[in-house]
Amino acid sequence: MTKKFAVIGNPIEHSKSPQLHHAFAKHANIDLIYQKRLAPLDGFTHSIQEFFEQDGCGLNVTVPFKEQAYAQCDELSERAKIAKAVNTLWKKDGKLYGDNTDGQGLVNALQALDWTLQHSKILIIGAGGATRGVMYPLAQAGVAHITIANRTIEKANTLIHELQPALSHTTLSTMPLNALSGNFDIIINATSASLSGDALDLPDDLQFKYAYEMAYGKPSHFLQQAQQRNLPNSDGYGMLVGQAIESFYIWNGIKLNLQDFL
Ligand code: ATR
Repeated sequence: MTKKFAVIGNPIEHSKSPQLHHAFAKHANIDLIYQKRLAPLDGFTHSIQEFFEQDGCGLNVTVPFKEQAYAQCDELSERAKIAKAVNTLWKKDGKLYGDNTDGQGLVNALQALDWTLQHSKILIIGAGGATRGVMYPLAQAGVAHITIANRTIEKANTLIHELQPALSHTTLSTMPLNALSGNFDIIINATSASLSGDALDLPDDLQFKYAYEMAYGKPSHFLQQAQQRNLPNSDGYGMLVGQAIESFYIWNGIKLNLQDFL
């Protein structure tokens, strides 16, 4: 029987998830259909109930519903608990299960680029949901130090204070966005600045080897600055594919290779 999957969000038209999952299914020789599902802003719960009642196997959740999905699950993975957000849902024995594959997607993407994570020093710019979602998987991958820089420094301080106990082998610190400095292996833009077309200035005092932008498909002032310095850099397409590969693994038990889909 054809397995039914979907990605749910609002808006949803732009989503590349159906294309990705259909490519994975072809590669793995699995019979599935993966659709886009637009939920009204006040109708997320009803929409997921309806999907699972109609024999849906698994749902990806995107903006703005990831926190609502987290709140509705009966069972959560460790990484979803720490992210406080869920992007992958499925039902088993009448219970709603939730996981968050965004962070592992980023880890997969960085590893596919051959940027070493073990013992590395990372700067993440931004202290919102995108940053929270990747902290635990980065720590699990052996990152030694993570500094979070944010325009609103209190938000970064609150986040590291909350997360430090769960990330005991990684040291966390913060930095105001207007005082970026220091030496890092990888810098990651997890702000929504590129989406709104805002500039993020990287001063000369800030040294790094690699730059990763979580957004994709838009010109990025952040990445342009890495390019001007002739440093390896990447947009977030690999992370998108990486999180989809992890969701596919949860639902279908088949682990695909990210490199095959870039
Ligand atoms: P997401 O879930 O995508 O992380 P979010 O929770 O709204 O979205 O967080 C957006 C992040 O981008 C925040 O860290 C925000 O900084 P503030 O906490 O100071 O608001 C950051 N951000 C958004 N626009 C920005 C800009 N133009 N310059 C710098 N940081 C920006």
